[in-house]
Formats: sequence, structure tokens, C-alpha cells
Amino acid sequence: MRIGQSGIVTLVALLALFGAATLSAQEDGGGGSFGTSDGPRGLKWTGGNMGSALMNPGENCVACHSAGEGPRFTAAGTVYARLDEKSLDLGVQGAMVIITDAKGKVTKLQTNKSGNFFARYAKFAFPIKAKVEYKGQTRAMLGSRGSANCAACHTQSGAGGAPGRIAIP
Ligand code: HEC
Ligand code: HEC
Repeated sequence: MRIGQSGIVTLVALLALFGAATLSAQEDGGGGSFGTSDGPRGLKWTGGNMGSALMNPGENCVACHSAGEGPRFTAAGTVYARLDEKSLDLGVQGAMVIITDAKGKVTKLQTNKSGNFFARYAKFAFPIKAKVEYKGQTRAMLGSRGSANCAACHTQSGAGGAPGRIAIP
């Protein structure tokens, strides 16, 4: 069978449409299951390791994902309302994480319903700087860091000298 030029154009357009739809579904959420929590959002993730952009807020996304399952991330973490929130509690939606790498390249990542943010393909020259913007205000990391695995240091009690979670201003 011979596919005409218009057939190829249609095929390419369909593929582009399908690709765009898949991407937004992954970045905006995917499914999940949630239960009540005493945290500020009143909700926590109860979906276990069900693959979703909303999964396991507060946990070390990159560590798990680089161990085999799930997509690889070059940067990831969760933005919370407070510095000392528990893992699995939902963080803050609609915050913007802004990473500036050693060459001045800026990458912006918006938090989803769980407060999660992640980059799959962005490449960073280290060390990086990072800040969070929310409702016109900014909270910046003062120093530069040699990793974009934000959740590794920004745990509930803070690791590697971090004051705790990444929190909104
Ligand atoms: C305890 C391990 C673990 C942690 C921690 C974890 N994930 Fe996952 N993630 C997985 C596994 C396993 C899959 C693949 C599941 C599957 O294929 O059904 C996955 C899949 C995903 C996917 C792909 C979903 C899809 O539609 O295909 C996204 C996006 C994701 N995780 C985001 C995150 C984010 C963001 C974090 C951190 C806030 C995180 N994950 C933390 C284990 C983890
Ligand atoms: C290797 C550990 C480490 C990594 C990785 C890391 N941070 Fe930090 N972060 C720190 C430390 C230590 C501080 C406190 C000192 C400072 O501000 O430099 C901090 C502070 C911050 C603050 C300001 C906290 C406050 O309460 O004022 C923000 C915001 C922040 N980090 C965001 C991020 C983001 C976003 C990422 C990922 C792109 C990230 N951090 C990766 C260690 C880390």
C-alpha cells in the first residue's frame, strides 16, 4: 500500500496530538487515591506505589525512580505549606520552582495537586540555584547545590543542613 503525502501529514498530526495529550495527563496528575490527614491540606496520598505524578509527596522521587521503575527525573521534589510536614501529606498546588543552573539556564517547574514537581529531560550544569515563587512572593535557597534531587535534603526534619521541606514564602 502506498500512503499519500496527505496521509502522512494526517498521521504526523495525530501522533503530535496523541503525544501532547499523554504528556499533559502525566504532568498534570494522573490518578491516585487520597485519605484524610491532619496536615494543612487535610489530605494525604494513600495510593502506595501506584505510578502517578501525584504519588508519594515528600518522598525521595529520584532515589526510587533511578532504582529501576518509573520514569527517570533530573530534578524532583514537593513544595509544602510548612517546613516540617509529614511525607505523603499533600503539599501546595500552583507554586513555581525555578532552578537556575551554573550556566544561567532557567528551568521552571509548576507544582501539581500533591505539591509535586519534576523534570524528566531538563539538563543542569551544577551547581544550581533554586527558589520558589507563590502568589507573587519568593523564597530562595541562598547557597548553590550540586544536586537537583531536592527531596533528598528537604525532608521533614531536613538533611544535609536544609531547614526541612521546601516551603512556600
Ligand atoms: C517508593 C518508590 C517511589 C517513590 C518514592 C516515588 N515513585 Fe513515582 N513511581 C514509582 C514506580 C514503581 C512507578 C511505576 C509504576 C507503574 O509502572 O505502574 C512510578 C511512576 C511514576 C510516574 C509515571 C506515572 C505514569 O503515568 O506512568 C510519575 C510521574 C511519578 N512516578 C512521579 C513521582 C514523583 C513526583 C515522586 C516524588 C514526589 C515519586 N514518583 C516518588 C515508585 C516511586
Ligand atoms: C544537597 C542538599 C540540598 C539539595 C539537593 C537542595 N537543597 Fe535547598 N537547601 C539546602 C540547604 C542546606 C538550605 C539552607 C541554606 C541555604 O539557603 O542555602 C536550603 C534551602 C532552600 C530553600 C530556602 C529555605 C528557607 O526556608 O528559606 C529553598 C526554597 C530550597 N532550598 C529549594 C530547593 C530546591 C527547589 C531544590 C531542588 C532543585 C533544592 N533546594 C535542593 C540543601 C539542599
